[in-house]
Amino acid sequence: MPLSEKVVLVTGGNSGIGRGIALRAATEGARVAITGRDPDKGQHVLVELAALGADALFIAADLGHEAQAAQVIEQVVHRFGGIDIVINNAGAGTRRSSIEVSDGPAERLKKLMHSNLHAAYHVGAYALPVLKARGGGSIVNISSTAALHGTWGNYGIAKAAVEALTRSLAVQGAPFGIRANGISPGWIATEVTAGHPEVARAASLLSRMGTPDEIARAALFLASDDASFITGQTLIVDGGMTITDYPSQPWLDAVGAWKLFPDLP
Ligand SMILES: NC(=O)c1ccc[n+]([C@@H]2O[C@H](COP(=O)([O-])OP(=O)(O)OC[C@H]3O[C@@H](n4cnc5c(N)ncnc54)[C@H](OP(=O)(O)O)[C@@H]3O)[C@@H](O)[C@H]2O)c1
Repeated sequence: MPLSEKVVLVTGGNSGIGRGIALRAATEGARVAITGRDPDKGQHVLVELAALGADALFIAADLGHEAQAAQVIEQVVHRFGGIDIVINNAGAGTRRSSIEVSDGPAERLKKLMHSNLHAAYHVGAYALPVLKARGGGSIVNISSTAALHGTWGNYGIAKAAVEALTRSLAVQGAPFGIRANGISPGWIATEVTAGHPEVARAASLLSRMGTPDEIARAALFLASDDASFITGQTLIVDGGMTITDYPSQPWLDAVGAWKLFPDLP
C-alpha cells in the first residue's frame, strides 16, 4: 500500500510498536512525524528514518497534556503543510490490576488514562479539523487485548475507553471523509515485553509474540485507501490468542491443535 506523499503522524514513534509503524510508513514512501517523551530515542529513530530516505520530524511531548498535543499537531502542519494519517500509538501499560481504596486507585487510573486515553483523545481532537481541511484522512488508535481481559485492571479500562473513542471519532469524521479505526494487539515483542520470555510460547496460537512490523502492516492497511469502507472498527491482531480459552491451553500444548477433536468416521 504505497503512501507516497502522505503525511503520517505516529505518536510514541520513538519506541517499540510506534517505531515499527514509523519505519514501515517510511518504507512505503510517507513523510513521517514521530513523537515521544524521550528525545534521545527520538533522535535514534530519526536516523533510521533518514536511512530509509524519509523526510521525518521528531517532536518531544507528553500527549496526556492537551496543550502539548495541540502543539504537536501545529508543528506537523507547519513542517509538512497538513496531515493525512494519524496513528495514536503512544501509551503505557502495566498489570497493577487491583482496585482497592487502600491502594491509591484514583491515582492509578489517572496515570493509565493519561498515557492511553487522554493522549489519543487530545491528538484525535486536534487532528480532526486538520484532516477535514485536507479533505479527508484516517486515524488509527492502538488499543490492546487488555481491553477484553480483567487481568489488566486500569490499563484494560483505559484501552476499552480508547476503543469507544475510535467509534466516536469515526462518527464525527465520517461527514468529512475521515475514517477512524483501531488495532488491538496481543503480545508483541518490544522492550516492554522482552522482560517476559516465559510467556512467548503461550503468547498466541502461533507459539510466539507478534512483531512491531506485523502491527504496522495491519495499522497502515486500515489507514490506507485499501480499507476505504472500514470505519469505527477495532481489529484484534493477536495471533489467535483471544480465541483460545484458558483451560484448553495445556491440552493444546500437550496434543497439538490438530488433535483437539476426535477423528471423524
Ligand atoms: N507491546 C505489546 O505487547 C502491546 C500489546 C498491546 C498494546 N500495546 C500498545 O501499543 C502501544 C505501544 O506500546 P509498546 O509496547 O511499543 O511500548 P513502548 O516501547 O514503551 O512505547 C510506548 C510509546 O508511547 C510513548 N508514550 C507513553 N506515554 C506517553 C505520553 N503520556 N505522552 C507521549 N508519549 C507517551 C512512549 O514515549 P517515551 O518512551 O519517550 O516515554 C513510547 O514512545 C501502546 O499504546 C501500548 O499500550 C502494546
